[in-house]
Amino acid sequence: MATRKLTALDVGSTKICCFIAEVSEAGRIRVTGMSHQQSAGLKGGVVVDMESAYRAILSAVHSAEQMAGTTIEDVVVSVNGGRPLSTTVTREMVIGGGAIRDGDLSRLIQDARGAAELDDRMLLHAIPIGYSVDGGPLLREPRSMHAQTLGMRMHLVTANEGAVQNLVNCVARCHLQVSDFALAPYAAGLSALVEDEKDLGATVIDMGGGTTSFCVFYEGAAVYGDCLPVGGQHVTADIARGLSITLHQAERLKTLYGSCLPAPSDDRELIDAPRIGEEDDASPNRVPKSFLVSIIMPRLEETFELVKKRLDASGAAGMAGQRVVLTGGASQLPGVRELANRILGKQVRHGRPLKISGLAEATGGPAFATAAGLLHFAVDDCGEARVTATQNHANRSGLFSKVGEWFRGF
Ligand SMILES: Nc1ncnc2c1ncn2[C@@H]1O[C@H](COP(=O)(O)OP(=O)(O)OP(=O)(O)O)[C@@H](O)[C@H]1O
Ligand SMILES: [Mg+2]
Repeated sequence: MATRKLTALDVGSTKICCFIAEVSEAGRIRVTGMSHQQSAGLKGGVVVDMESAYRAILSAVHSAEQMAGTTIEDVVVSVNGGRPLSTTVTREMVIGGGAIRDGDLSRLIQDARGAAELDDRMLLHAIPIGYSVDGGPLLREPRSMHAQTLGMRMHLVTANEGAVQNLVNCVARCHLQVSDFALAPYAAGLSALVEDEKDLGATVIDMGGGTTSFCVFYEGAAVYGDCLPVGGQHVTADIARGLSITLHQAERLKTLYGSCLPAPSDDRELIDAPRIGEEDDASPNRVPKSFLVSIIMPRLEETFELVKKRLDASGAAGMAGQRVVLTGGASQLPGVRELANRILGKQVRHGRPLKISGLAEATGGPAFATAAGLLHFAVDDCGEARVTATQNHANRSGLFSKVGEWFRGF
């Protein structure tokens, strides 16, 4: 059976991850090469040092290529910074009593896409949420229906063009072309949510190193996406400051003993926290685990409160349902699920990449949901009326390039 090759590049703040996969005709994804490297040159999801970011990307891609025994030319890349902005637009056109045709839909889509306010931003996603015939309820397939008017709701996601361009340039220096972009939490949702969750309403919260980003799914479509420039690195920095230890030591203490679920035994459990600049054999600073928990908890509480605030203000809260799925490396801290449940008031579960084969246990974990989701994004086309990165740059105001492709996939 014919297969095609796809490559996902998740450029994160703490790790850069490359998945090379084969996709069968039936759409089954099997990862044949993968690599993840410590990230460099990124902060809060955006490139701040081009040279370091380029080297880290090159190294990740090269290792994945070696494992897959192939060379790659184009990649689907995650976008997690650049202040992504989500808006929903509604458009209507007169049909005049006849049947709705492809041409009507494409004109309506063009109109809705044109509503994106660009200036110094670029359009990342244009996702049709649904159509309404003569002002009726939203439906997914209006073609052939007779109508006086056809309405449409579309979710548009834009991001700072400079931030995206810097990412494109780093990838281009590796002699690779960006075939498409996807907002990181959107990709994470595509791989970590089950179909019912996407349909009934769910929010995926991707807890990374430099960001906490989230995406709401409803009726099978992504209806809202957002990103906060705070993540696991900030928790680590809080620990380093609170205990006067290095970031490296703080990261180790966090992953070994960290928790945001206080337990009565925490006061009795003592942790060795070495002091910066002291000899290894100097008597360590012993602190109760409760002190570590008291440093970690406020940061995560604040993060979830910010997520809640953004969600409540987004207008998408009603569609988000009762389900939250946590992905990202920082979601592995014990007690995160309980804390998210308390602050968001929803059912929370841990997520990881689904419907994908070839991943080892370590690379099938929550930190790899975005990379895996980029492959799903490329395979499914997600019903989007989107533009490719190059087309978007070549024709920022045209904004109509992939509509034909979208129709084929409808
Ligand atoms: N077992 C663990 N317990 C707690 N935190 C962990 C654990 N493992 C990893 N982390 C944290 O997860 C974070 C990295 O997560 P992830 O790999 O999802 O980030 P990223 O994709 O590189 O960053 P971003 O998505 O923000 O750009 C780090 O801050 C790290 O400290
Ligand atoms: Mg990430």
